[in-house]
Amino acid sequence: MRKKPITGHTDVFGLVGHPVRHSLSPAMYNTLFAQFDIDAVYLAFDVDPAEAERVSDMIRVMGLVGVNLTVPFKERILGGLDGLTAASRESGAVNVVTQIEGSLMGYNTDGEGFVRSLEEENGPNPKGIHAVILGAGGAARAVASGLLDRGASRITFLNRTRARAVQAAEALQASFMAADFDVRSLAAKDFFDAASSAQLVVNCTSGPASDVVSSFDVRALDHAASWVDINYWMSTPPAQAACKEAGIRFHDGLGMLAHQGALAFELFTGHPVTGGEIRRFLDRSS
Ligand code: ATR
Repeated sequence: MRKKPITGHTDVFGLVGHPVRHSLSPAMYNTLFAQFDIDAVYLAFDVDPAEAERVSDMIRVMGLVGVNLTVPFKERILGGLDGLTAASRESGAVNVVTQIEGSLMGYNTDGEGFVRSLEEENGPNPKGIHAVILGAGGAARAVASGLLDRGASRITFLNRTRARAVQAAEALQASFMAADFDVRSLAAKDFFDAASSAQLVVNCTSGPASDVVSSFDVRALDHAASWVDINYWMSTPPAQAACKEAGIRFHDGLGMLAHQGALAFELFTGHPVTGGEIRRFLDRSS
């Protein structure tokens, strides 16, 4: 628990999204601030999506020191920031903003968080692998960027909207020129064709796509392949049971959640924190 009183000097951080009321972030960051005796508070701001253009100015005007962004602002904040990391450009999305002397810097910690969790859970080493990514939104692009940064050689995007997957592949190709990309439909046949040469499948589609994803035949994968579902809130992710039956290793999204949060906390405060410390908090809260 917080020992210091909140004063005029207390730094204000927050989560900007819609919806945000269910979020564990305020409890998590405030616990960490207390643990490290940092004079800061973290709040949740439920912002009307119609106000997206004004979010960056709100951060500046209110003097927020750092902000996490969630749906639907991760993409829509890009134009209002003063600087972007390579990972956020490649992802086309920002999940962390820090403010220093009125200047806003955008980061994306999802991709690095993803590869750190894969490493921690003894998943496949990204170097030289073919990864099949289901989805082509901000999260899919961030995961692809993290894998490519660690040497993945081929990425196949399977997405409902082809144009979005093409855009993702083109944006990433500009940074990772030696890698191969292909784009397919989010359909059982396309999954079957792509899966046989893949060492890793990552489901980055959101909940409503579960029916399609559960129709995929995971037996098309090699036995040594792994499947990750980044939808950490799902009690029964679509391919989990089929992977178990087929002997394919399955990872839930909690590791990625913990590691991207640890990276964000360090960007906010300069205090290194391990994914394990965040994970312990999440385990206690669930
Ligand atoms: P995030 O920030 O989590 O990546 P997003 O950008 O909204 O969220 O991306 C959601 C992903 O889930 C997209 O790949 C989306 O496909 P489209 O690009 O075609 O929209 C996918 N998705 C969401 N609902 C879907 C559905 N009912 N069927 C198939 N794919 C779906």
